[in-house]
Amino acid sequence: MQASLFFLILSFLTYIILSIQGATDVNQDHVGGCQHPVYCTGSLLKTIQLNQVFNDSKTFVDMPMRYPVDYINQQFEVLMFNTSKTGGPNKAELLEFLNNNFYPAGYEVEPVTPVDWFPNPAFLDKIQDPELKRFATSVHGKWLDLTRVFNVSGLCDDCYSSIPVTHPFVIAGSRFREFYYWDTYWIIQGLLVSNMTATAKGMLTNFRDIITEYGFIPNGGRIYYLNRSQPPLYTLMVKSYVEATSDYQFLQETLPILDAEYQWFMKYRTTQINTCDGGSYTLNLYNVSTNTPRPESFYEDFTGASVFSSDDEQKFYYSSITSGAESGWDFCSRWFSQSDNTNLTTIQTIEVVPVDLNSILYYNEKTLSMFHNYFGNTTMSTFYQKAASERATAIQSVFWDENNLQWFDLNLETQTLNENFYISNLLPLFVDIEEEINMNDEEIDSIFKELSDVLLNFPGGIPSSLIDTNQQWDLPSAFPNLQYFVIELLMDTNTTVSTAIGRSLINRWVTTNYCGWNSTLETEGGMMFEKYNVYDVGTPGGGGEYVVQNGFGWTNGVVLHLLNKYSDIITLNSC
Ligand SMILES: *[C@@H]1O[C@H](CO)[C@@H](O)[C@H](O)[C@H]1NC(C)=O
Ligand SMILES: *[C@@H]1O[C@H](CO)[C@@H](O)[C@H](O)[C@H]1NC(C)=O
Ligand SMILES: *[C@@H]1O[C@H](CO)[C@@H](O)[C@H](O)[C@H]1NC(C)=O
Ligand SMILES: *[C@@H]1O[C@H](CO)[C@@H](O)[C@H](O)[C@H]1NC(C)=O
Ligand SMILES: *[C@@H]1O[C@H](CO)[C@@H](O)[C@H](O)[C@H]1NC(C)=O
Ligand SMILES: *[C@@H]1O[C@H](CO)[C@@H](O)[C@H](O)[C@H]1NC(C)=O
Ligand SMILES: *[C@@H]1O[C@H](CO)[C@@H](O)[C@H](O)[C@H]1NC(C)=O
Ligand SMILES: *[C@@H]1O[C@H](CO)[C@@H](O)[C@H](O)[C@H]1NC(C)=O
Ligand SMILES: *[C@@H]1O[C@H](CO)[C@@H](O)[C@H](O)[C@H]1NC(C)=O
Ligand SMILES: *[C@@H]1O[C@H](CO)[C@@H](O)[C@H](O)[C@H]1NC(C)=O
Repeated sequence: MQASLFFLILSFLTYIILSIQGATDVNQDHVGGCQHPVYCTGSLLKTIQLNQVFNDSKTFVDMPMRYPVDYINQQFEVLMFNTSKTGGPNKAELLEFLNNNFYPAGYEVEPVTPVDWFPNPAFLDKIQDPELKRFATSVHGKWLDLTRVFNVSGLCDDCYSSIPVTHPFVIAGSRFREFYYWDTYWIIQGLLVSNMTATAKGMLTNFRDIITEYGFIPNGGRIYYLNRSQPPLYTLMVKSYVEATSDYQFLQETLPILDAEYQWFMKYRTTQINTCDGGSYTLNLYNVSTNTPRPESFYEDFTGASVFSSDDEQKFYYSSITSGAESGWDFCSRWFSQSDNTNLTTIQTIEVVPVDLNSILYYNEKTLSMFHNYFGNTTMSTFYQKAASERATAIQSVFWDENNLQWFDLNLETQTLNENFYISNLLPLFVDIEEEINMNDEEIDSIFKELSDVLLNFPGGIPSSLIDTNQQWDLPSAFPNLQYFVIELLMDTNTTVSTAIGRSLINRWVTTNYCGWNSTLETEGGMMFEKYNVYDVGTPGGGGEYVVQNGFGWTNGVVLHLLNKYSDIITLNSC
């Protein structure tokens, strides 16, 4: 009793202090970047990565150091000296060096049992089909495998690449042994279904601390991700959490931090578009500026850039690769030259103004306007509503294609729209832009009718694109997070046309997740893949820089969300 009263007073005091401090403590000038002499720069990194000591370039940069940086670099110089007669260290010598001086990858990220996990959350009672219930119970159980806590006790300062956070977090899974920014949006949807509100709040608090420190949320929980963010879904995560819990105190404490993240995107990720009818619009793009490989994909990036001879071309390549990673769609023909759109070397992400990023920022503006209105701050509420209206006009003027009935990315090099299908073309409907531009249900249905082949014909979900490039965000991969966008925008439209397509997609998606799980149940305990193959129900998608991953945070989050929200309409198709 006394303890909880003390806690109440303490949290009230913290609340006052936070309210007084407001946004002023946020480091808003952090453009990003990592200069760590082992994990981000220097010859040790380059030597390990270019010798491909590990199959996966990410392994090395996730290994904590046993000794301080100076000592390690000194030892490395000795190794180079020792092996100079034989032309430098070979793979075995490098591996021995690593074993002597580093801990295994992920050593500082420990499994932990979330305090708010219970075996039978209420949503399971809604599921009638016993097979689906068995599946849902198993997926709910996977939070136990995927929750981690940061623990550096015994490690020296600067001797690990994790970005320190206070609260436990859910990782994506497999090689992704840390939290990821946009993945967390779907993980939170699933945690809320699993009634794990404390874990959700902990993750949102970690992000709040990270914005306070860096001004933005990096791609994931590693310092080598500090050169880039990811699609800005933090405000929408907070919205989902507050809607589920009515925790308005958390919202009030966090609102200045949400403002700060929005400002970061407006400061570092905007461009000015002038249209031929004399219009001038501010829109956002993924625009990281860097002249080095991504540390966790050093070999791949270095090799990719080697076809270019000039520093400017290499810088353009590295910036576009890193910006592609910032977009979440790494990699995809969306970011390639329109004239050679299956060739990664033609990547030009920093010349593309994307529909999805601007849609998400529109949603941020609407949501921030609503939040400020809730707390009676009319000035801020009006500011964001005006920004949303202006952005809606810009999205219509720049991206909307009346003939193809889609919103297309703008390519700045050619000054043309990219008229290929991408799921991102539909994002304006996910964020309800129709409210701002007076698009009626009939007009929206005509978009779905135009796309009915893509939306209905693939048994394993909707592909991100219809171009086969051997990249993971192109055909034949279907990603869980993108299915979520399409399902929600269809079901929200709530017309006969949209509901029929939406139901079909929900059943196809749950079936493909179920079939992949069921067919691996005995051997692997039921696998949940990062992505699936649209042609072959229940098999993982492919392509890209690494083998398909099991776990998997956003897959579990999306399917739990669907099993909860649409429990009355889901029927499994056959595998
Ligand atoms: C990150 O960006 C900084 C500049 O902000 C640059 O100096 C550095 O080389 C970049 N590092 C990587 C790994 O991209
Ligand atoms: C690395 O890849 C090779 C070839 O694919 C494979 O034989 C080897 O077992 C892999 N090594 C590790 C440590 O995974
Ligand atoms: C370098 O060589 C010396 C002499 O053989 C040996 O004692 C030392 O362990 C070696 N150090 C490294 C880092 O290879
Ligand atoms: C959710 O969990 C809380 C405790 O963390 C519990 O009090 C509540 O009854 C649970 N709600 C449901 C619907 O299971
Ligand atoms: C952190 O790691 C240390 C050393 O490995 C261990 O003794 C300790 O129990 C860990 N702490 C937590 C909270 O897991
Ligand atoms: C991207 O950012 C750089 C500065 O880092 C800027 O020079 C460039 O104009 C930006 N790109 C666009 C299309 O606005
Ligand atoms: C891919 O694009 C690069 C850069 O434009 C070019 O050098 C290369 O020849 C292209 N590869 C193929 C297979 O077309
Ligand atoms: C509205 O919010 C802004 C930014 O946080 C703050 O400067 C201003 O004082 C607030 N106004 C009111 C009336 O609360
Ligand atoms: C969808 O429309 C039906 C009938 O038109 C209505 O009863 C239902 O409440 C609507 N559902 C939503 C989620 O708006
Ligand atoms: C699930 O897997 C089992 C064992 O492989 C199989 O007998 C069963 O038919 C599968 N269920 C469905 C619905 O496909």
